[in-house]
Amino acid sequence: MSTTAPPLDADLTAGLRRLKLAAMRQLAPELLITAKTQRWTPEEVLRALVVAEIAARDASNERARIKAAAFPVLKTIEEFDLAASSIPAPTWAYLTSLEWVRARENVALIGPAGTGKSHTLIALGHAAVLAGHRVWYVTAADLVETLYRGLADNTVGKTIEALLRNDVVLVDEIGFAPLDDTGAQLLFRFVAAAYERRSLGVASHHSFEDWGRFLPEHTTAVSMLDRLLHHATTVVTNGQSYRMRQARQRRGGELPTP
Ligand SMILES: Nc1ncnc2c1ncn2[C@@H]1O[C@H](COP(=O)(O)OP(=O)(O)OP(=O)(O)O)[C@@H](O)[C@H]1O
Ligand SMILES: [Mg+2]
Repeated sequence: MSTTAPPLDADLTAGLRRLKLAAMRQLAPELLITAKTQRWTPEEVLRALVVAEIAARDASNERARIKAAAFPVLKTIEEFDLAASSIPAPTWAYLTSLEWVRARENVALIGPAGTGKSHTLIALGHAAVLAGHRVWYVTAADLVETLYRGLADNTVGKTIEALLRNDVVLVDEIGFAPLDDTGAQLLFRFVAAAYERRSLGVASHHSFEDWGRFLPEHTTAVSMLDRLLHHATTVVTNGQSYRMRQARQRRGGELPTP
């Protein structure tokens, strides 16, 4: 930054501060010098200031949305090696287009440990944040615990509505731990409330036929899956665990045959 630019008049600085136009306030002294020497039109000056303020706000909103998404680690679409996964390229293209978010559809990832379910959920969530959507990542256990807390003071409905202010809710690790009757009912209420209103992304080890095993009441499993899968892309991730592949590669062992 040049040291020659004189500061803005105090009233202008105070006004911009009051209007919370921080980027304009910081940029203006230098920009006014440039504008004078390069004989910018008044519109050009105004435009440059407005563009800078919008860019700064967008960046700050994006940072806030990333934080609010509560991703446990950051994973991106670019880091995902599609060739090493069982996800078909057209499915991946559809998912990464985020068309399903705009259409309020769901994504269900089913597959064994280490096959990229969480990576995919987080990477899609991250892309959705960059595209301007509000996203929240949670494990099924933590989601049920959050809803359980609402039972005590009768605020389950409110909690669900607050969570569904997000455009996308990513519920990972469904069925890693069994749920009791109440937990299953709470999860069902959440899925039912999101149905056709918001996008859900879910991941589980269990094939859908097995959901009755960790959801105690068979009817809950059926009704939940009915809503979850009505408008959904189902992706089966299978094959060798990526974690195991990497561990084996590090040890210098041979790669598993596909
Ligand atoms: N196709 C891939 N390309 C790049 N990295 C991958 C791929 N698949 C998995 N990984 C990486 O391998 C690790 C395990 O993947 P991930 O956590 O997504 O597995 P998971 O299917 O969620 O397993 P679990 O069921 O145990 O939770 C992560 O570090 C992830 O980034
Ligand atoms: Mg996982």
